[in-house]
Formats: sequence, C-alpha cells, structure tokens
Amino acid sequence: MISEKDFIFNQNTAIINEGSFQWSAPSNIALVKYWGKKEHQIPANPSISFTLNHCKTITKLGFTKKSDSSNFSFDLLFEGKPKEDFKPKIQKFFERIEVYCPYLKNYHFTIDTQNTFPHSSGIASSASGMAALAMNIMSLEKELNPAMTNDFFYQKASLLARLGSGSACRSIKGNIVVWGNHKEINGSSDLFGVEFPSEVHANFNNYQDTILLVDKGEKQVSSTVGHDLMHNHPFAEQRFSQAHHNLSTIKRVLENGNLDEFIQIVESEALTLHAMMMTSMPYFILMKPNTLAIINKIWKFRNETRIPVCFTLDAGANVHILYPENVRVETLQFIKDELVGYCQNGQYICDEIGFGAQKL
Ligand code: PMV
Repeated sequence: MISEKDFIFNQNTAIINEGSFQWSAPSNIALVKYWGKKEHQIPANPSISFTLNHCKTITKLGFTKKSDSSNFSFDLLFEGKPKEDFKPKIQKFFERIEVYCPYLKNYHFTIDTQNTFPHSSGIASSASGMAALAMNIMSLEKELNPAMTNDFFYQKASLLARLGSGSACRSIKGNIVVWGNHKEINGSSDLFGVEFPSEVHANFNNYQDTILLVDKGEKQVSSTVGHDLMHNHPFAEQRFSQAHHNLSTIKRVLENGNLDEFIQIVESEALTLHAMMMTSMPYFILMKPNTLAIINKIWKFRNETRIPVCFTLDAGANVHILYPENVRVETLQFIKDELVGYCQNGQYICDEIGFGAQKL
C-alpha cells in the first residue's frame, strides 16, 4: 500500500532556474461530509463529492531560483493586487508540505490568484485555491523530475492540496471523488482523493448545482475549529460509522440511479453536519433563517411536483440545490420565482458537475 514516504521528493534529475505555470481548480460539494479530523489532515471518516465546473480558482505560479535556501520566499497577489492577509496561510501550507517538496526553499515564488466566483460570497475558496496551488507546485516538480508518472502527479497534487485544506484534495479530479479509506471503494485512501471507481448512472450526467448565496458574511466559526470540536464530541463515533454506511449506500445509488435514495442520503448528511455543530461544546449554528426557509420551500416544491430536487449545505448558510439536468428548466424557474428573495442581493450561481483541475 502507498504510504506518506512514497511522496517524498528525492529525484532531482533536472535543473530549472525559472518559469511559470498556470492552473485552474474547481470547488467541490460533498454528498457525504467530512467533519472531524486526526493529525496531519487525516479525515475521521471517508467523504464523497461532486467536483464543480464554474466555481474555480485560477492561479499562476512564477518562480526564480535563489541562492539562499534558508527560508520560504513568495509574493502573493489576489486579483492582481498584493494581499498580505493571505500570506500566513500560504506560509503554513509551505511548512506543512516542505517534507514532501524540499525544493521549495530554492525558489522565490510569485503566486497570482483569482476566483471566478464573487469575493466573500461565502463560497469557500480554500478548496479550489489550495488545489490550484498544489497543481502548480506539481508542475514545477514534474520539471525537476520528468520521469514522474501521470498517476503519481495527480495523487501527490491531491495529497499536497489535502495538507492545505482537507476537502481541497477532492478538487484535483472530477467528476466524483472519494477521500478517506472505505472498504468498498477500491484504492481509496486517507492521504488523497480518488476518482469514484464505478460506472455512474446516466441520471447523474451533468448533475446541476445552483448555489444560493444566503449569507456572505464571515463565518463565526471556522471549519478548523469545527473539525476540532469533533474530538470528545458525544456523537462522534456514531457519526463516523454513519458516514461509512452512507458512503456504502450512495455508492450503490450512484451506480443504480435511484434519485429518491440519493435525496435521502444527501439531505440527511447536510442536516447531520449541522447537527454535529449544534451539539458540540461550545455549540454553534451556521444556518440562517433564510437557509431554513429555502429548505422548506424545496420540500414543498418536491412534494407537489415530484421533481427530484434536493439541497445540501457546507459549513455555512448558503444552500446548494442539486438536481438532474433534465429538470433544469422547471427547477430554475422555481428558484427564480420562489427562492431568489431569500438570497443576499438576489445572488445565486449556476454550476454543475465538472472534471477537475486544468492546465491553462
Ligand atoms: O476542508 P475544510 O477543512 O474546510 O472542511 C470542509 C468541511 C465541509 O465542507 C463542511 C464538508 C466537506 O466534506 O466538504
């Protein structure tokens, strides 16, 4: 079995003095949620997500060799302007991945990054951002070690992204990714995300995700703090075994296309995630009144029309509405007629399942 040690770089076969790369990486939305972790960003339970298509980070990494290798050195630009407050996060990321990428201190980097979704929309950019940066670093590593295989390139990119932000490891590939050991998913690993290995039912082709921006404010509790609160959480063990069970069920559902069962697992996972937050100590609530109003409207619409629309949530107040492509027109009409009023400034983003990071 592949272990952490296999990802330590020790093959400096080429000398590279300067260059630049550019990658885009998408956001992702979990169906079975990751909430709770062990040391080194090892998940407490396996998770599975749809990779998104339009919500992306685009990052250009410029690098020049420097003579002094004692420190990390980088400039950070966000939308073309220096962004000092993002720097500690990148510094920490470099420190975490240094053991795997010892060449990082040999270069000065210019990291130039932007998102395709509105700034501070409440859509977490850490997954797409860390994934895009990890891809660029792997492009540099590939230059240093041209013999690297494609599989290793993507696996290590996912491992590096995980060390930046856990769920970022699911943003490297598409269109459905599993992260965390699960007995029924061949090749699954706590170290990196893998493409869902089975054939997926046509019901999930181009599955839609419309993201309703309910609250764009800063989260009052970061996901780092939230994960930590799963230590000594009274329901933690039950929750972790439930996630294993739900992943087994959703695996079958993704294969057989049963949308009723899909809806049941996805909505239950979203509410369980928030239930864990509400039952931790200290407890907290990230949903807003409009989050609940939207959920109730979705349930009513689904009951009345039998259209298989469901919701999921991440660690915030925004609502992701998931539905098959063949009910797109009716669902968008429903969103415009009944849900836009609950969104901050009427904002929502139409996305769909996508295929992972791309070199630009
Ligand atoms: O990757 P993090 O540490 O920001 O955690 C994200 C956790 C959730 O988005 C709530 C769930 C998930 O699996 O993406």
